[in-house]
Amino acid sequence: MTTEYLEDLDLSTEAGKNGIERAGEIIRRGGLVVFPTETVFGLGGNALDPEAATKIYRAKERPSDNPLIIHIADPSEASLYTETSDLFERLSKRFMPGPLTVVLPAKPIIPKTVTAGLPTVAVRCPSHPIAHALIACAGVPIAAPSANLSGSPSPTTFRHVREDLDGRVDMILGGECEIGVESTIVRLDSSDTLTLLRPGGITPEQLGEFARVELSDAVLNKLKEGETVQSPGMKYKHYAPKTPLYLLRGGREDRQRFLAGQGGRFAVLAYTEEIPSLSVHPSSPVVFDLGSENDPAQQLHRLFYLLREADKSGCERIYAALPSTAGLSLALYNRMIRAAAYQIVSVN
Ligand code: TXA
Ligand code: MG
Repeated sequence: MTTEYLEDLDLSTEAGKNGIERAGEIIRRGGLVVFPTETVFGLGGNALDPEAATKIYRAKERPSDNPLIIHIADPSEASLYTETSDLFERLSKRFMPGPLTVVLPAKPIIPKTVTAGLPTVAVRCPSHPIAHALIACAGVPIAAPSANLSGSPSPTTFRHVREDLDGRVDMILGGECEIGVESTIVRLDSSDTLTLLRPGGITPEQLGEFARVELSDAVLNKLKEGETVQSPGMKYKHYAPKTPLYLLRGGREDRQRFLAGQGGRFAVLAYTEEIPSLSVHPSSPVVFDLGSENDPAQQLHRLFYLLREADKSGCERIYAALPSTAGLSLALYNRMIRAAAYQIVSVN
């Protein structure tokens, strides 16, 4: 398949508007379009068309028991496809459009291929102007997983999308992903309780203003053998670079000492503040700037991008500090322990 590219899409120009028109047309006739969202790039198809969903699974080589999120242009459309509730209304008023996905009982109009046979469907209303324009123009909800090949880190740049999906989709639209990791996913359990299935740009602290928040086990821990998953995506090896990643538990000085003792060619995803000391390091590691130590939003924004770049650096291993689990850092922690296949090294 030949893939059409629109890397610099400007919605204020005639060319930009025509591009969105063509992309919307591709979705309507059952094709696949990759588009930027405020979280990561999505690999989209018509959510009401079971064939389109099948094409999505095939394009990213994803197991078809892992359901897709449907993307809508306005939160009010959620009631067309799901059974909404008061708690959904309150959450959507505050967080939509934005990086929140809510799992709700699905209406029969949603094909089983999209929900992977579950009675529920995940709904999200992205805030990215290109995502919004595309969904509105297509006139149908868009089913879209992250636009990576299954197992690799979600793409946050046009170039990374191309590396994975060139020739596998009809069109790729470029743009910026401000947040850099996938949306926060919640399941609504009652009128005042929800379960956090996947942490993201909306924190448990923010959600706590609306309901009691339970953390799904899979957020912080590896699933035990045979344990049932609440969000099927949690059971797959995820976000992983090909190069082994190790997370270091300990303070900055402990990390420095540990790294000084390492041989061979290795990479470090380092906090900005640590970089000066690493550059005079005896073992001269390849250093990537993860962002300021006190700026988890910046670290989230760079994480997936850097995991892919570190993979290309020809290093044997990658090291990074184990993040905290407070606030936005919970999303970092959740992605990093998976990327590291749960390999944590205590260095203190
Ligand atoms: O930010 C995002 O959410 C991005 C952009 C493109 O919107 N999308 C995304 O999709 O991350 P994906 O498919 O890579 O991750 C969706 C996750 C999977 O872990 C899946 O198992 C879970 O959502 N999920 C989907 N439907 C579900 C359901 N009905 N119940 C529980 N989990 C569900
Ligand atoms: Mg994904």
